[in-house]
Amino acid sequence: MLCILPCILFLALAADVAVRDIMQNVIKLWRTLQGPPQVGGPGECFVRNFEIGSDMQAWLELHNAVYQRHEKSRPWEKRDFAREFDWSKGWTPDKMWLAFSAPEQGELVGSVALATRASDGNAHGSIQWLTVAPEWRRKGVASDLLDHLESHCWEMGLCRVLAETLNTWTEAVAFYRNRGYEA
Ligand SMILES: CC(C)(COP(=O)(O)OP(=O)(O)OC[C@H]1O[C@@H](n2cnc3c(N)ncnc32)[C@H](O)[C@@H]1OP(=O)(O)O)[C@@H](O)C(=O)NCCC(=O)NCCS
Repeated sequence: MLCILPCILFLALAADVAVRDIMQNVIKLWRTLQGPPQVGGPGECFVRNFEIGSDMQAWLELHNAVYQRHEKSRPWEKRDFAREFDWSKGWTPDKMWLAFSAPEQGELVGSVALATRASDGNAHGSIQWLTVAPEWRRKGVASDLLDHLESHCWEMGLCRVLAETLNTWTEAVAFYRNRGYEA
């Protein structure tokens, strides 16, 4: 016990430093919607809502392919999905959009989820896990997904939408700024 205690303390301290480093790099970008967003932009994909029975595996594969590179963590499993998108806290599949390469039997090429949060007593939309497969980037997939998310926000009466990312994720920052999100 005595000999593993310093190791545990060291690991906890190291983890704390890593978390602090990450938090320092978090950047919050906001957009205020001025009118109902148009859905059906120039993207080359087909967007629909998540279907819990058939889409789980493909979603996990896309998520792991993109974020394991960033997070260096173990791959997500179904239980991680269930923890993140918790039905008991009001999350429902109509708050997630998937982009496919073709309308029928297409490959999953992108995804985004919406959470509702509150700041200063006002509710706002929060963009969660925006992800596009590397070979499908710069084709308007994320733009199409965000059109759906923002349109849903508008229908829910959420005019303010928040994107949180790391300032070291330059592609995400460039994308959100291009969409009119500002610090
Ligand atoms: C960020 C990300 C979602 C963008 O997806 P995408 O489908 O390539 O984005 P779009 O094609 O809709 O891009 C729209 C515009 O955003 C900007 N943009 C997108 N990616 C960019 C990049 N890598 N560099 C500079 N600008 C970029 C451009 O202005 C682009 O328009 P253009 O291609 O006509 O120049 C994608 O790169 C990705 O999945 N990255 C890894 C995961 C991630 O960072 N997610 C966000 C987490 S918060």
